Amino acid sequence: MTGFTSTTRAVPEVGGVPRHVAIIMDGNGRWATSRRLPRVAGHAKGVEAVRGTVDACARRGVEYLTLFAFSSENWRRPAEEVSVLMRLFISALQREVRLLADNGIRLMVVGELGAFEPRLRELIAQAVERTADNRRMTLTIAANYGGRWDILQAMRRLLAARPDLARDPSALDDELFEPYLAMAYAPEPDLFIRTGGEQRVSNFLLWQLAYTELYFTDAYWPDFDANALDAAIASYRERERRFGRTSAQVGAAE
Ligand code: IPE
Ligand code: IPE
Ligand code: MG
Repeated sequence: MTGFTSTTRAVPEVGGVPRHVAIIMDGNGRWATSRRLPRVAGHAKGVEAVRGTVDACARRGVEYLTLFAFSSENWRRPAEEVSVLMRLFISALQREVRLLADNGIRLMVVGELGAFEPRLRELIAQAVERTADNRRMTLTIAANYGGRWDILQAMRRLLAARPDLARDPSALDDELFEPYLAMAYAPEPDLFIRTGGEQRVSNFLLWQLAYTELYFTDAYWPDFDANALDAAIASYRERERRFGRTSAQVGAAE
C-alpha cells in the first residue's frame, strides 16, 4: 500500500491549495543566452529560483513539492554542461541542507542515483537522512529521473518480490504496482508546472500525471518567483477536476 489511493481507483478529495506541486524547471539556458551569458550562468541563477519556490510553497501549505532537476536524457548534453550541473547539485546540497532542516522540510531524491559519482551520492544520502523527520513539506528532487525508468524499475522490483504474478498477470493492478514507484510516499501531483514555454512532459512523472492539472508558462525558470507560483495556483483553483465524472456529478459531490 502507498497510503494514497490512486486517482484511477477512487476520486480524491481536492482543496484550493494543491497538495502536491510538480515542476519542470526549464529555460535556464535560454535565460542566460538572452542576456549574452553562458548557459551555466542560467543554471546557477536557477538554484536561487529553487530556494524561493521551496519557501513559497511551504508558506502556502503545499505538502509535497517535486522538482525535475536532471532527466535521464540530459546526459546527452555536452560533457562540460553536465559536469557543471553536477557541481551545482553538490554545492546546493552542501549549502542548502541546513536551511531545509531549519525550515522543517524533508528532502527526498528520486532517480537512478547509481549513475552519479560517489561523493554526490554520499551527500544525497546524508541530506536525506538529516531531514528525514521533517514534516512541514516534502521536497523531492528528481535527478537522473525518467518516467519510463520509474515504471520499468517498479515493474522489475514488483516481479522480483512477486514472481507468482508472472504466471497470473491478470492479478496485477495499480494497487499492487504503485508501491514500487519511486514516489510511492507521495500522492499523485495535483498541479504540474512547466516553465520555459515548451508544452511537453519530457519523460517526467508519466504514471503519476494521469489526472494532474497542467500549467505552462513562458517565464524562464530563473525568473519564476512567488508571484508566478501564485498565478499557477490561481489557474489551478479555476479548474474543475472531474476525474472522469460529469460536471453535474462534481457539483453534487461538493
Ligand atoms: C532546465 O533548463 C535545466 C535542466 C534541464 C537541467 P535548460 O538547461 O533546459 O534550459 P533551456 O531549455 O535550454 O533554455
Ligand atoms: C526537462 O527539460 C528536464 C528538466 C527540466 C530537468 P529539458 O530541457 O531537458 O526538456 P526538452 O529536451 O526540451 O524536452
Ligand atoms: Mg530545456
